[in-house]
Amino acid sequence: MSDFLLDLSRNRGLKKALAAAGVSPPLPEPLRRQPGPVAARPLEGRVVGVGVPDGARVVATLAAALPALGASVEVAGDASPFRGPAEAYGRQVATSGDGALDGLVLDATGLERADDLVALHAFFQPRVARLARSGKVVVVARAGAPIVARAVVGLAKSLGKELGKRGGTANVILVRDGADASVAGPLAFFLSSKSAFVSGQVLTVGPGGAPSRPRSLDGQVAVVTGAARGIGKDTARALAAEGAWVLCVDRPDDDAETSKVARSIGGGALGLDVTDPAAAEKLLSALGDRAIHVLVHNAGVTRDRTLARMKEADFSLAIDVSLGGVVRITERVLEAKRLAKGGRVIALSSIAGIAGNLGQTNYAAAKAGVIGYVESLAQRVAADGVTVNAIAPGFIETRMTAVVPLFIREAGRRLSSLSQGGLPADVADAITFLATPAAGGVTGQVLRVCGQSFLGA
Ligand code: NAI
Repeated sequence: MSDFLLDLSRNRGLKKALAAAGVSPPLPEPLRRQPGPVAARPLEGRVVGVGVPDGARVVATLAAALPALGASVEVAGDASPFRGPAEAYGRQVATSGDGALDGLVLDATGLERADDLVALHAFFQPRVARLARSGKVVVVARAGAPIVARAVVGLAKSLGKELGKRGGTANVILVRDGADASVAGPLAFFLSSKSAFVSGQVLTVGPGGAPSRPRSLDGQVAVVTGAARGIGKDTARALAAEGAWVLCVDRPDDDAETSKVARSIGGGALGLDVTDPAAAEKLLSALGDRAIHVLVHNAGVTRDRTLARMKEADFSLAIDVSLGGVVRITERVLEAKRLAKGGRVIALSSIAGIAGNLGQTNYAAAKAGVIGYVESLAQRVAADGVTVNAIAPGFIETRMTAVVPLFIREAGRRLSSLSQGGLPADVADAITFLATPAAGGVTGQVLRVCGQSFLGA
């Protein structure tokens, strides 16, 4: 579905003509994206400004990760930990500069008190104007520092709103004690163009994470429901691009589409209604003796009506597809011990499940229930190294949103810091990040892929 303002923003000639005529409508910035598989050096050719104020605790992780991702760094603070890794990867280390920066990372893990927060101003204020289009800001703070952990989120969410008109994003990583190494994966995701539509988000990391690398799902089995089209189709493709064998699941009526997706990625296809009480058994028997490493619950439907006019069948269907099926299938897979050790469960929620939405009492109840399920299941399966997370997309350009009435659709697109809808691939990239070892320290959380939508923020 085409976005008129974004198309206009891409049309330089027309933009110039409008400017010459004194008309300059606020246009969304076309986002820098990185299509295709996870790159070995996603920050190749980019320069990242890094702030390491006194007491910063994850410097070693930053110093190892940034050059390995391909970035040269401009360090505010002690640059010495960066020199060895930068030399090893042939990257530059500077201590000052005035050129464009593609990213800004502040290690705020040494900050504890309200008085310390001035360090945020000291680092960001002189540099923020140097941030390139689609520039990335990441703040790392200690999860155990109550004032600072919340303060940096306030700062990042505000900065995200300031940067959005140039396609920029700002996100936060909160690190639990002893989990420094787990910062590398989320750092790579937030700094790379794989997170183009993710802004104003917070990921808390515990132990278990690894640096980002290509083909990290080699030899793994993934299941994606609702894989015939939209977000599910792109997710199946993205997981396959990281090496997974993907079983594409969708309604039996969609067999032709599902098989087409499966064939294109060398995966399998299964016609299955996730609301079928026997869905889990059918899924497991289709897999033979293979264990599941990545289980993505993406199937979803909307049946919108205000509650006063909603039929029980429509209320129940939206809940059963997005929540009932998720719980039944996951529980049966766990009971049958068919989820691999260190496996991943990722379920699609929605910002409607966070903010609520007119005409979506059924859908919002289901998507909010998904968050409750993910939070509780994460604790139950933590001992097996299994992570369980939810993705909450905002307005994504798919069949689901193409049928939304024009004015509501326009509002959905514009009411966000990035002033545009996301693409299915944006959500697929976030799901894939959560499926990989790079997100091993992330569990029981909700990652919004919403361009920092103003709804429920
Ligand atoms: P879509 O309508 O393009 O695709 C959904 C897929 O789920 C379809 O292929 C459909 O056949 C399948 N499906 C529906 N009921 C099923 C059932 N009972 N059994 C098996 N498969 C079934 O939707 P889209 O936009 O790709 O959405 C994917 C997920 O993301 C859904 O869970 C949706 O609720 C969620 N989401 C989407 C947003 C958007 O803006 N597009 C926003 C927030 C959440």
